[in-house]
Amino acid sequence: MLRAKIAGVGFHVPENVVTNDDLTQFMDTNDEWIQERTGIKERRWVTRGKDTTATLAAKASRIAIERAGLEAKDIDFIVFATLSADYYFPGAGVILQRELGIAETEIGAVDIKTQCTGFVYAMSVGTQYIETGMYKNVLVVGAEVQSMALDLSTRGRGIAVIFGDGAGAVVLQPTEQDNKGVLTTKLHADGRYAEKLIMPVPGSHAGYHDKELETPTDWNFSDAKWGNTFVNEHMLSNAMVYPYMDGKYVFKMAVTKFPEVTIEALHAVGLEVSDIDLFIPHQANLRISQFVAKRLGLPPEKVWNNIQRYGNTTAASIPIALAEAWEAGKIKDGDLVCLTAFGSGFTWGTVLIRF
Ligand code: ACO
Repeated sequence: MLRAKIAGVGFHVPENVVTNDDLTQFMDTNDEWIQERTGIKERRWVTRGKDTTATLAAKASRIAIERAGLEAKDIDFIVFATLSADYYFPGAGVILQRELGIAETEIGAVDIKTQCTGFVYAMSVGTQYIETGMYKNVLVVGAEVQSMALDLSTRGRGIAVIFGDGAGAVVLQPTEQDNKGVLTTKLHADGRYAEKLIMPVPGSHAGYHDKELETPTDWNFSDAKWGNTFVNEHMLSNAMVYPYMDGKYVFKMAVTKFPEVTIEALHAVGLEVSDIDLFIPHQANLRISQFVAKRLGLPPEKVWNNIQRYGNTTAASIPIALAEAWEAGKIKDGDLVCLTAFGSGFTWGTVLIRF
């Protein structure tokens, strides 16, 4: 049986460091509040006009490709997870293909839009192509530029302090070695909670889902004077173009679903939590990661956290953490690495990998 192994990993974050203190220039917040609630000390934000989601992705991808002993032209399929593509359409995958200088190869590129669970879904998709023998070198990427879609005024502080920019990538290749590579992937979603963590504009809903939206009072979609456009002045001036989160609800669901799907994946292949060598949770919030680790009974040395330095980078957080842990020598041959994520949708999932 063919399995998908990780042949190379890489990550890239913008050089521009934004500390909690830096944020006080724009909004009424403070380092103590942010660290206590989220664990975040600083994050990286791109310099406008210098980088995009796809250019960050290209930088991470080149590292992963080189570590796999390949050249970009050897890649035969791209799976790109992001909620912050360069354009509303086309997707970021085709821009990444162009940035890598391999557009002439005409390889396929697909975008995955499952937010914080994006990389886990993308890994699952990439794995299926390898296991069926359809492709031999699949580039799986998670990248985000969120800093350009945040409300930096005090009104948006509950969200804006959490998110960061960055990219991570892996190259998947087939292996016939027994018990190596992706052992299983488990994916879930529950659309009843779509509006609990949402960026409603731009979109086609034109007020259709108003009853589901428990959004700020100045978001009156029925009154949004839609016209023939996804975005207009009314939406801009009423901050409808920014993400909204019911933070307490997200917290409650996340700490239940992270452990549930992790155990589901482990049991599917006859393993237990004690078999995990390194647990890499989506970096949603340090308090969520600590809560989940405690529920699973995982000691801190088996859990990789870097949200303190990068904030929550959504689909990029797991591949950044994976590449960073690998560079730090925390992942050895034969180790069982568990990637678990939860996010907007709600969506959640796990990938279990034997290195
Ligand atoms: N700085 C200072 N004060 C703030 C800030 C800020 N950045 N943001 C909000 N506050 C204030 C609020 O205005 C409020 O003030 P009030 O009591 O005077 O009205 C007070 O702090 C408490 O606000 P809450 O929104 O109730 O804060 P809460 O304790 O829920 O913490 C948080 C917010 C950190 C988001 C929390 O809900 C949480 O941990 N949620 C989990 C969800 C999460 O982290 N998601 C990450 C992204 S989603 C994902 O990756 C899956």
